Amino acid sequence: MTRIFLHGAGRMARRVLALAPQSENVEVLGLVSRSKPKDTIPMDWYASLEEFTGEIDLLIDFTLPAGTTAAADWCARHGVALLTGTTGLSVEERRALKTAAQKVPVLWAPNLSFGVAVATSLVRRAASAFGASANIHIAETHHEHKLDAPSGTALALAEAVMEGRCEPLEDLLKSAQQEKPIEQGEGELTFSSVREGEVIGEHTVSFRLADEEIEITHKALNRDVFAKGALKAGEWLAGQPAGYYSTSDWLDLG
Ligand SMILES: NC(=O)c1ccc[n+]([C@@H]2O[C@H](COP(=O)([O-])OP(=O)(O)OC[C@H]3O[C@@H](n4cnc5c(N)ncnc54)[C@H](OP(=O)(O)O)[C@@H]3O)[C@@H](O)[C@H]2O)c1
Repeated sequence: MTRIFLHGAGRMARRVLALAPQSENVEVLGLVSRSKPKDTIPMDWYASLEEFTGEIDLLIDFTLPAGTTAAADWCARHGVALLTGTTGLSVEERRALKTAAQKVPVLWAPNLSFGVAVATSLVRRAASAFGASANIHIAETHHEHKLDAPSGTALALAEAVMEGRCEPLEDLLKSAQQEKPIEQGEGELTFSSVREGEVIGEHTVSFRLADEEIEITHKALNRDVFAKGALKAGEWLAGQPAGYYSTSDWLDLG
């Protein structure tokens, strides 16, 4: 049985909480969020990780970047695996996860759906096949509450493009956040973000060639796809040695 704490009590953490009873091998023992949930929750609540002194195997984090780095530090000090789906992490915040991964298993996934993992793999292969002859555009649409842009998934798809083209990743995050095109030889990588209504998450990667265009699209129909992924990936992660993992490691997609 994997003993879990949830970090965060928002839209995503609530779906993980609701779906956990459907998984035989996991048990959610507590929830940590700065403000106390207004409704009744069937478990212990803590205002901060530092207040908890018991034993757990896994922390599932859906918060904001500051919450995620605090979670990484706490997990490393307490020998607890960390699965985080929080997006909008800076280079330094991602480095904090890698530091924690020297002591405990850490999986950071800006998207926990199986469909996006497969789409990312397809994007990597397409980028490799087309090379610099394709201009690539990554378009994403999310609900109006989402704070970061481009989305973590859009950036992960861009990383797959860069890997497929064997281009360095260093400037990707900086250029994307400044909404500047990323020059790649002849080809260019651009982003667009739309925030409207309650759209859960839609991503399209378009490969534009001289005489043709290919699009790879993923649409999340509800949040359960991410919550189920978090529970399954978390159960897998808790059994791994210390290290920094991705959904590709969990799903063995290569
Ligand atoms: N990986 C995926 O598949 C996936 C899917 C959907 C969303 N996401 C990402 O998951 C994150 C959360 O999304 P959401 O829709 O659940 O957001 P949300 O509804 O706004 O909830 C965020 C939660 O984080 C808590 N929080 C914020 N800052 C914190 C801190 N410094 N320390 C501790 N807790 C903190 C908030 O509560 P308090 O302010 O009371 O602490 C709140 O409960 C976002 O980054 C989103 O992009 C990832």
